[in-house]
Amino acid sequence: MKFTIDGLEISAEQDDTIMDASRRAEVFIPGLCYSSSTEPTHSCRLCMVEVEEKNSLRLVAACAYKVKENLKVVTTTERVSKVRKTILKHLYSMAPENPAIMELMNLYKIEKAPIIKEKKSHCILCGRCVKACEKLGISAISTVNRGVTKEINTPYGKPAEYCMGCGSCSEVCPTKCITIKDNEEGRTIWHKHFEWARCEKCGVIVTTKEHFANSNPNNTPVVCPVCKRRYMTDVFADTFGE
Ligand code: SF4
Ligand code: SF4
Ligand code: FES
Repeated sequence: MKFTIDGLEISAEQDDTIMDASRRAEVFIPGLCYSSSTEPTHSCRLCMVEVEEKNSLRLVAACAYKVKENLKVVTTTERVSKVRKTILKHLYSMAPENPAIMELMNLYKIEKAPIIKEKKSHCILCGRCVKACEKLGISAISTVNRGVTKEINTPYGKPAEYCMGCGSCSEVCPTKCITIKDNEEGRTIWHKHFEWARCEKCGVIVTTKEHFANSNPNNTPVVCPVCKRRYMTDVFADTFGE
């Protein structure tokens, strides 16, 4: 299926949103809560674009709007620019000095908006971390509290029983605001410390013990990908000769 973004023809697959297709085609539409690997949260609203429908332009979120054949998407209008700037200023007030937001502020040439209150966190409450954890079947974190104290946390801010320290939530966070501390002994995340599972052959860190156990129901030994490959090569050589 074909459609256009600012006159540029793009290919889309069945059920693609404008964002899915634009990211695949490397056509830039800003969006902090979008991830092709997790369920969409549609929360940041930065991806607003206009689509031509019945001879008029309608403002839609690119990460939610499904592409149709010959759809015309416009991103360069005054209205789109104004909406994105307003949203960016709001996100900036939530997470001032965050590099991801500062980059977009510079791109859209926005003066720093006044900061209403001192923010300790750079969280913009996009929900990507929660979705990533849900997708793993764990759901160790969620949105807690309301109003200005709203945040992402574990139940009662205590070490979450089922958190396995995999770090997926931190990896998908667009503002990199989830505190994750790794050292030689292990990892600390979400108020909980995890010991490393190390490769039994070379000692390299593979993941946390809890994450390894969770993704390894057959209880096989911890072996890193490099040692696993080496082992397979040896087996192949023994079986079929050099
Ligand atoms: S580190 Fe814990 S909270 Fe984060 S994705 Fe993994 S299991 Fe979920
Ligand atoms: S911690 Fe990061 S991923 Fe989670 S809601 Fe906040 S900004 Fe989004
Ligand atoms: S990327 Fe569309 S709402 Fe955030």
